[in-house]
Amino acid sequence: MLSNPKTELAALVERRQPGYSLEAPFYVSPDVFQADLDLIFGRHWIFVGVEPDVPEPGDAVVVDIGRNSVVIVRGDDNEVRAFHNVCRHRGARLVLEEKTTVGNLVCRYHSWTYDLEGNLIHAPHMGESFKPSCHGLKPVHLKSLEGLLFICLADEPPADFDDMAKVMAPYIAPHRLRDTKIAYQADLIEPGNWKLTMENNRECYHCAPNHPELTVPLFAYGFGYAPDEMAPEEIEAAKAHDRATEEKHRQWEACGLPSALVEHLDDRVTGFRTMRLMLDGAGESHTMDTTVACRKLLGDITDKAIGGLHFWTQPNSWHHFMSDHIVTFSAIPLDEGRTLVRTKWLVHKDAVEGVDYDLENLTSVWKVTNQQDSDLVGYCQQGAQSPAYAPGPYSPYTEGLVEAFCNWYIGRLRAGLEG
Ligand code: FES
Ligand SMILES: [Fe+2]
Repeated sequence: MLSNPKTELAALVERRQPGYSLEAPFYVSPDVFQADLDLIFGRHWIFVGVEPDVPEPGDAVVVDIGRNSVVIVRGDDNEVRAFHNVCRHRGARLVLEEKTTVGNLVCRYHSWTYDLEGNLIHAPHMGESFKPSCHGLKPVHLKSLEGLLFICLADEPPADFDDMAKVMAPYIAPHRLRDTKIAYQADLIEPGNWKLTMENNRECYHCAPNHPELTVPLFAYGFGYAPDEMAPEEIEAAKAHDRATEEKHRQWEACGLPSALVEHLDDRVTGFRTMRLMLDGAGESHTMDTTVACRKLLGDITDKAIGGLHFWTQPNSWHHFMSDHIVTFSAIPLDEGRTLVRTKWLVHKDAVEGVDYDLENLTSVWKVTNQQDSDLVGYCQQGAQSPAYAPGPYSPYTEGLVEAFCNWYIGRLRAGLEG
């Protein structure tokens, strides 16, 4: 515990050394964790799910972030809305299941009943002066970016979400996420602080020795390389990969698939990055043989080999969009040493399991990769707890995007503490 949390956190923020991992309290202190919930997860756009979580009116999904529980529900008008999952009578949690389907939202304690727009429509024995219109569910800001659902718990959410949406919509739209279904969801609790989960996600320095399955479809050069340590033929291979990527981007963009790199990881409140990456082998999908896992392609896509569009958002998500399926990931902090990583595999809504896709083939690369990453995150959490831990230097060639994550995080903490 920090003895004077606000002052000590401000001092930690001010002495953060760029290019180095964070000091131990950022990973192990319950006070820093609380600040993360308040200033990061309480004030930014948090990725929580996808529209196919709630495909029909009345479908509801619950997401818990710290002490907040939020219910996301599709209304009869087909709009998706989010509300605090707290009854306006005496505060009982309204929806207990992670996923359910309801006609109205009925509190089981005294049967106060809310419609799908959050209005209180039934509250027996409350007297004539009682105003139901003053006791609707408290709304939570929600935005859908082509079917990716983000919520913001702050009263005034960051306004630059719309700038990100404007850039990203043309990249994501061809994959028609709203016309998919969730083929599989996996919840994995990683034994580490949420920032270790995110830092690990933002580099592939660790991929070659740790991810034999993921490195089948992914090129080693996609996220940087160190030319001064490479043999001439390796440098030529890396340069050839860069040239091939540029050529592919030209081809894909000519076919209406935006592909070029856009990077705003630490120069905006709502930080993000995207790029369509070439895939190895057949170039089609994140599978063990690099060919599509689902025979029904997404949207109007006809070319199987359009690589993998990756999309990252600060502070808590990353996604891969292929021709045949989409994988979405959210990281939700549970406590200073545990993080829920929720992964969803999406396929065309009309695809039939066992006919159009095999679930094991669809999910195997990321299932095994997530577990490998979870182990790595756990090792770092253990290390951060040791008195011997000291921040270590990032690779200038392959960990620049980890630095961008930490830079964004430190900047947003500083803004929160000053505010
Ligand atoms: S607490 Fe919900 S109806 Fe009483
Ligand atoms: Fe990894």
